[in-house]
Amino acid sequence: MIDVTPLKAPFGAEVRGWEPGRALTDSEEEVLRKALHTYVLLVLRGHPRPSNEEFARLGEGFGELFGGGESYGLASDSRDVLRISNELDAEGYEVGYAGSGYLPWHTDYSFRERAAKETLLEAVVLPENGPRTHWVDMYTAYEQLDPELRERIRGLIGRHDPYASARHIPAEVLRAPQAYGQRMNPNAHLPYEDVPVPHALARVHPESGRTALYVSTFVGAVDTLSGDEAQDLVRTLLDHALRPEWTYSHEWRGGDLVVFDTVGTIHSRDNFEPDATRSMRQMSTLLPA
Ligand SMILES: [Fe+2]
Repeated sequence: MIDVTPLKAPFGAEVRGWEPGRALTDSEEEVLRKALHTYVLLVLRGHPRPSNEEFARLGEGFGELFGGGESYGLASDSRDVLRISNELDAEGYEVGYAGSGYLPWHTDYSFRERAAKETLLEAVVLPENGPRTHWVDMYTAYEQLDPELRERIRGLIGRHDPYASARHIPAEVLRAPQAYGQRMNPNAHLPYEDVPVPHALARVHPESGRTALYVSTFVGAVDTLSGDEAQDLVRTLLDHALRPEWTYSHEWRGGDLVVFDTVGTIHSRDNFEPDATRSMRQMSTLLPA
């Protein structure tokens, strides 16, 4: 029996009752999809740890899987499941992606033509006291835009490139030597296509029909605008969106599995002590081509 309870937060709901060892019925999958459309983010909690296959089966209930496990140049025991982990292998390299550094506000795979529709992220090993992951509700951000600004961005196309985010990362964070790359496996890479990739700044979710502000630190340019105009616009839109009243900050507990709408949210992760170990499993579904 799937039980959905709204979080005491601007958005999100807690879900109890998922049994990884048993396939969800069609109506249970529908309950989860509807809950995600309503609450934008679901925290599945209190279930036994799923195998990779059980995790993938949950993801497939939302949509076609991206195949992150085999797309980053890292050793993987699953096509679908990407390890987000700074655990070290025998050679001293991280077994997963994303290290221990601050991850700036982004939406998953917006640097690809088919960006993520949902992402599922599960906490396997956690350091004490964090780090937290933060999400902003970009449907509300869009709805609450000043009408003139909403009119201005209508039809505009942003260009997404993960390296565009560097200008939004505070200098002291960029300077932290442990944060980026030191222990990264030399074969690891983001699954790029031809960046920068175009996506509308106001994006309609293909299932719920809701419109989200689809802007993050990955937007380095905007078609028809000069470089300066684009930077000003992105900064204005992010300043508008990044408000505590539209933000949910998750304090992870072991085994938490967060499913989030990656059209209607952007997320960031705090950095953490690089000698502490944090291991997550991640999976994304794909937007239609
Ligand atoms: Fe992400």
